[in-house]
Amino acid sequence: MSSAPIGVFDSGLGGLSAVKEFLNVLPNESIVYFGDTGRVPYGNRSNDTINRYALQDAEFLLRHNVKMIVAACGTVSSVAKDLGNKLPVPYTGVVSPTAYAAAEKTRNGKIGVIGTTATINSHSYKLSLEKRHPAIKVYEQNCPLFVPLVENGFINKDDQIVRLVIKRYLTPLIEADIDTLILGCTHYPILSNAISSVLGDKVTLVDSGKETAIYSAKILKENSLLNNSNEKGNCKFFVSDTPDDFNNVAGLFLGREMDHKVEQINIAD
Ligand code: DGL
Repeated sequence: MSSAPIGVFDSGLGGLSAVKEFLNVLPNESIVYFGDTGRVPYGNRSNDTINRYALQDAEFLLRHNVKMIVAACGTVSSVAKDLGNKLPVPYTGVVSPTAYAAAEKTRNGKIGVIGTTATINSHSYKLSLEKRHPAIKVYEQNCPLFVPLVENGFINKDDQIVRLVIKRYLTPLIEADIDTLILGCTHYPILSNAISSVLGDKVTLVDSGKETAIYSAKILKENSLLNNSNEKGNCKFFVSDTPDDFNNVAGLFLGREMDHKVEQINIAD
């Protein structure tokens, strides 16, 4: 069982920013990734639809005998709250590990959270933080234009359009004097440089993929599921729409040249 892969899914390719962190934190683990590219975005859909899609995505991964499932999607993690109870293997979303890390990092107790509209409407990060740290103040902002910006390659910190959109969304958080910002959507790490260059270096960015990879390592260890072999793990990628441009876009999220085979599946089956 310990050599079985970890199953990671997202509404699209943003979750690959989390896979990048898994490859750093758990290099011996194999990964099966599913990106629901045929139905992305989830972030502006109803809770019922997001719950249904999330369960289908997880069930697809279970068919690959994964030993753990990770929802590398801020929206699924925020909305499909009882997904873990429906699965026969350990599960985590990105909300708890990221909220926990943000609480550790803040110095002035003022934390900003950005995410899709569904994520922000669920108040998932805010509730998770306030439950454990009532004194912390949380400022939320949905950023619906960030995902299309990233998907269309608008990520450069010197691009005027990128800066304008970031400023428009983040000005209320700057005015609230946050010192820590949760990137509550797995697309957003791609905009880290641009976001930092607008916010300045006094604001610490918390990457949900990175914190979730660290937390997943802990869960695997606690369940005696770590792969103890010294060999590097392998990755398999599945998507629900045409994989034509996969390697280009995936390379952006994974931060490395990609030459991987990717398979298209019919997720509704
Ligand atoms: N991956 C989603 C998230 O992390 C963003 C894209 C979407 O709206 O589906 O929230």
